[in-house]
Amino acid sequence: MDHPRYPRPLGLAPLAYGGDYNPEQWPEEVWAEDVRLMGEAGVTMVSVGIFSWALLEPERGSYEFGWLDRLLDLLHAHGIRADLATPTVVPPAWFYRDHPEALPVTREGHRHSFGSRGAICHSSPAYQHAAAAITEQLARRYGSHPAVALWHVHNEYGVPVSDCYCDESAAHFRRWLGERYGTLKELNSAWGTAFWGQRYTRWDDVRPPRLTPTAGNPAQQLDYARFTNDAILANFKRERDLLHRLAPGIPVTTNFMTALSQCQSLDYWAWGREVDLVANDHYLVAEDPRSHLNLAMAADLTRSVAGGRPWLLLEHSTGAVNWQPRNLAKRPGELARNSLAHVARGSEGAMFFQWRASRYGAEKFHSAMLPHAGTSSRIWREVVSLGAELGKLAEIRDSLVRSDAALLWDWESWWAQRLEWRPSVDLDARERADAWYAATWDAHLTVDFAHPEAELGRYPLVVAPALYLMTEAAARNLRQYVENGGTLVVSCFSGIVDEHDTVHPGPHPGALREVLGLAVEEFAPLRAGQEVALAAVDGGPALRADAWTEYVVPDGAEVLYRYADGPAAGQPAVTRHAAGTGHAYYVSARLDAAGLARIVELASADAGLTLPRLPHDLEVVERAAEDGRRYLFAVNHADTDAVLPLAAPGTELLTGTPVPGSVTVPAGGTRVVRY
Ligand code: GAL
Ligand code: ZN
Repeated sequence: MDHPRYPRPLGLAPLAYGGDYNPEQWPEEVWAEDVRLMGEAGVTMVSVGIFSWALLEPERGSYEFGWLDRLLDLLHAHGIRADLATPTVVPPAWFYRDHPEALPVTREGHRHSFGSRGAICHSSPAYQHAAAAITEQLARRYGSHPAVALWHVHNEYGVPVSDCYCDESAAHFRRWLGERYGTLKELNSAWGTAFWGQRYTRWDDVRPPRLTPTAGNPAQQLDYARFTNDAILANFKRERDLLHRLAPGIPVTTNFMTALSQCQSLDYWAWGREVDLVANDHYLVAEDPRSHLNLAMAADLTRSVAGGRPWLLLEHSTGAVNWQPRNLAKRPGELARNSLAHVARGSEGAMFFQWRASRYGAEKFHSAMLPHAGTSSRIWREVVSLGAELGKLAEIRDSLVRSDAALLWDWESWWAQRLEWRPSVDLDARERADAWYAATWDAHLTVDFAHPEAELGRYPLVVAPALYLMTEAAARNLRQYVENGGTLVVSCFSGIVDEHDTVHPGPHPGALREVLGLAVEEFAPLRAGQEVALAAVDGGPALRADAWTEYVVPDGAEVLYRYADGPAAGQPAVTRHAAGTGHAYYVSARLDAAGLARIVELASADAGLTLPRLPHDLEVVERAAEDGRRYLFAVNHADTDAVLPLAAPGTELLTGTPVPGSVTVPAGGTRVVRY
């Protein structure tokens, strides 16, 4: 797979520290205080101009750059780098006056209105034209401004709306399909239109999957998801290419939202290849008592779409957000713990939304680096102290995270599995990805994510938590991986359909029968709340599952667990198949956390991985530099101090003290040991 380039923000020597800065919401007198306080907090870079289109271009073709000139000069005078945005996520009111057709239309046929943000039909030529024009103006004016370190294109592509069902999008979809399939005959075959008499005889009859009386065509819906991703990515590339051409030398990024709960419509494997520097935004699910797992997973996914290279956390929050049902404040110390956990997993800094809390608008109850409470506040003190800590970590730049195993993840498969009329509403791809990720996190394994068609040879252990859709190429890849000595764990309801949501021929799981050495004769989902036990064939402790079981017929695989009760009582539940010099496990039920832990333990032993014995909630990740230096990050999520044994003596970077055989990580604290 291609990897993104990785130039760090231009001229930024330390780690990135700062946030979204919206000075346009404040009188200019306040700016002087801003930059003074930024200095006090150790801020090194701020993101500016993200929502400023209407202020920079108050009417079509008439520009007011004076305020941005003064702002960039001021930042530069204070040694603060600028991550300068193209404001194309918020077209101004005048744009919609002329082009109401650029407002996106929902599946139900309702058109969105102006007055929020992100109301964009990505197929609209008028939008593309206006976005290119303002991007060109910015590139020409600021491409050689000494403050500019990074281009921040748009904001969080894919949210709050991604797909549009208007006529312009329909025409664009037909062009996209024309390129993909060439002829209507091919399209009819790929979409399986013999079913329910959906056959097309004219291209004009082909439409986006708008509201239908009952389940729509799944292949059409899946292609629409792919089309939407491609249409949005094309708009990113258009801006990126303009910036590369008119302002060469400044890296281009856009902020992803890799947490699966936060943006569902983009295939970040594709996006990771198009940006110069991968950047991510992450927001905790505040009510989740173990929200640090979701953080770690998003960070690992971000690093993985960056091809393992360093990336940048462009937004997270200092405290509460404002858009969840109950916006819990962060606990003391959590701000630093979150930031350093991202850095441990490959981020080259920690940026926030936002610098100064807004007094008006929809986000006035969102936390900031400089809260409404001002500098006499816990958040401000923690912000200043984090700035000092990050200042001590500059030397970790460019070091790479060392991983033990890989989890397979494919956005296309997720899109497909989420469509209507699946065998059980309780089996959810994201839930399984979260659950298997948690099992590896609890086992203290550091994992990369990988696309199922990626080269996997360097991983002793590969887990597929949810790959309902699997291409022939992916199936071959996994077979080869196992035959060459790998240990593969496949979770239920994987390898079922091809890229058109068509069931692979023969018994399930068609793409994986051979490598797993079994067939699945029938799915056996459970009633809501029903649980089953799985008895170990060797007499070990039983496992528990809910929601999902299957009738598994081994064909070469050995049986490790059998269903003790439930619809498949007495039948195989977990199997292990020796193929070539490797092994493939199959888990046919939705196991609980203890069950997943047991399977991870068994498979790790096959893979030759020794699971470290560490305190339960101690997160330990290593980054290694080219010169051989290693940085061990230990983040303690527990309420008691933890002792981390060290392979070699080293130096703790945050306290600057030598550490001999072990380091004590205070409750809720972080330690970074160089050795
Ligand atoms: C992000 C967005 C920011 C801000 C933030 C609030 O998704 O990029 O502009 O809205 O959420 O949490
Ligand atoms: Zn549209």
